Amino acid sequence: MKTRFKPTVALWLLATASLCSTSGLMFQGKGADGQAGDQQVVLRSLGVPFPVSPADNPITSKKISLGRELFFDKRLSRDNSISCATCHEPKHGFSDPHPVSIGVNARTGDRNSMSLLNVAFFEPLMWDGRAKSLEEQALLPFAAHFEFDLPVVQAVAKLRRHGYSEKFKEAFGEDISEENLAKALAAYQRSLLAGDSPFDRYILLNDSQAISPAAQRGFEVFLKARCDACHLIMTPGLHPFALRYILFTDNKFHNIGVGMDKEDPDPGRFAVTGDPNDWGAFRTPSLRNIALTAPYFHDGSARTLFDVVEFYDRGGIVNRNLDPAMRPLKLSQQQKRDLVAFLESLTSSRASELAHEEAKVRQTATATSSTANERSRSR
Ligand code: HEC
Ligand code: HEC
Repeated sequence: MKTRFKPTVALWLLATASLCSTSGLMFQGKGADGQAGDQQVVLRSLGVPFPVSPADNPITSKKISLGRELFFDKRLSRDNSISCATCHEPKHGFSDPHPVSIGVNARTGDRNSMSLLNVAFFEPLMWDGRAKSLEEQALLPFAAHFEFDLPVVQAVAKLRRHGYSEKFKEAFGEDISEENLAKALAAYQRSLLAGDSPFDRYILLNDSQAISPAAQRGFEVFLKARCDACHLIMTPGLHPFALRYILFTDNKFHNIGVGMDKEDPDPGRFAVTGDPNDWGAFRTPSLRNIALTAPYFHDGSARTLFDVVEFYDRGGIVNRNLDPAMRPLKLSQQQKRDLVAFLESLTSSRASELAHEEAKVRQTATATSSTANERSRSR
């Protein structure tokens, strides 16, 4: 993580030395080092770092709009019934209100969909960390039997038949390929920054009115209960600017006991590493925008934030690999409610704007077809 964030800090100094850290998101042209003649964009949101892209996939505005269009396109699935957005719904913080996701032919998976807000900062990806990068992850849903159920080679051919070639040539300077499909989806997802929550304004801009007294007390409970042992406030690798950025995760895996009382519990990270210390461990999720993404936990077993708090208050579910940081908290009803109020103060001012992402796809589609009409009229 450390090396990954260093350039971010340097960039921050260079690019924003004189900018005050208030507003939500910013797009800036950054010269001609994007691909295919497109401008690279720099994104910014209070409380979260700049997203760092792999050297061979800088974020450009053309990739973002192409990735967005693909993200909402149901033709990515075998029977044209679902898109990425079916399980990552913008209005639910790019997650899914079902406890476990439902794919083609109503086949169900066994895990809760993860929010894609601020996903640029989490790695490895997935509850069990089985995907190293967004580029790698983007191709997983294709062949998955309970997701798109369409091998990616066939998906590429299908998208080519449906007129995507031109758009890929514009964004990448070459036709659609597996690699470019993954890159477009990854670039779009890296653009889903959502910081600038009331809590960010409270803690980073010293605006004492930004969150309610209940949420302020809830923050004290959060620290006292040592929630930040895993949902970090001080993110390593971000020093000495740690207090500019809060991701509420250590990007590590812990067994807190979720689902461990089931007959055949999900082994989580253990299935990837084979390390007995990883049995029943799942990645610590960020808590940003958490109020939007119910239900909670990898199996969707907690319906509300209050249920989550009750779970922690009991000390999780005791099992042979329970994290030593888990213990009964003995919180009062008032402290539980305050903790929930704190968690609710982590919702980004960008969230409602991002809820309308699909409308942008329709706008682009209308704009493109009217330009095409104009062209054909002038011929
Ligand atoms: C059928 C529902 C479904 C579809 C369709 C789907 N996802 Fe997911 N997605 C999930 C679930 C469930 C998880 C968590 C899976 C796990 O950890 O085992 C997930 C996890 C992810 C993650 C990891 C996030 C993190 O923080 O680690 C990313 C990124 C992602 N999906 C992107 C996509 C993209 C891009 C598409 C379309 C190409 C897509 N998903 C299609 C259900 C779905
Ligand atoms: C030992 C590390 C650890 C501690 C301490 C901890 N958490 Fe978590 N938290 C996790 C992990 C890991 C998960 C995911 C567990 C799963 O789904 O199996 C999680 C999940 C959550 C979720 C649900 C997130 C989602 O997207 O579904 C919330 C909310 C949450 N924690 C809040 C808290 C609060 C509040 C505290 C303090 C009372 C706390 N956590 C303490 C590691 C921790």
